[in-house]
Amino acid sequence: MPRSQVVGCAIIAGVALLAGCSPRNVGFSADVQPILSRNCSECHAPGKPGFEASGFDTTSHQTVMKGGKFGLLVKPGDAFTSALNMLVEGRANPSIRMPHGREKLPDKDLEILKVWVNEGAKNN
Ligand code: HEC
Repeated sequence: MPRSQVVGCAIIAGVALLAGCSPRNVGFSADVQPILSRNCSECHAPGKPGFEASGFDTTSHQTVMKGGKFGLLVKPGDAFTSALNMLVEGRANPSIRMPHGREKLPDKDLEILKVWVNEGAKNN
């Protein structure tokens, strides 16, 4: 391996370390949908209490992007201001942290949701 390439790898590894080795290229169907169906869809689907209260349906990419009755909940490219991320991370009022009345999601899942939104909230 030429010397410059070795240096390049070391720098890339260093950046990954600084970024906490975030997952990259998160896919909606492979990574995000399973988290939502495991933790959210029992309440956030038509006829269920979370949906009835908020209008937010977590059962498909289309409904997730549509948001709730007060507007959009996912802002593609901006997890910091997306209500979905704020609520699961407990950055909004703790009384409305999601999932409602349950344990906070594991950090790994919070990270997946964050990377997915920051990568553009794609239907991939
Ligand atoms: C036990 C039922 C329940 C579960 C599980 C649940 N929610 Fe909720 N969710 C609610 C209720 C009820 C509301 C309405 C606001 C309130 O009463 O706190 C709500 C509101 C929300 C809102 C706010 C909508 C708005 O327009 O402001 C978001 C976003 C949300 N939930 C996301 C999620 C996500 C993401 C998950 C899974 C990680 C989840 N919820 C799991 C019941 C639930």
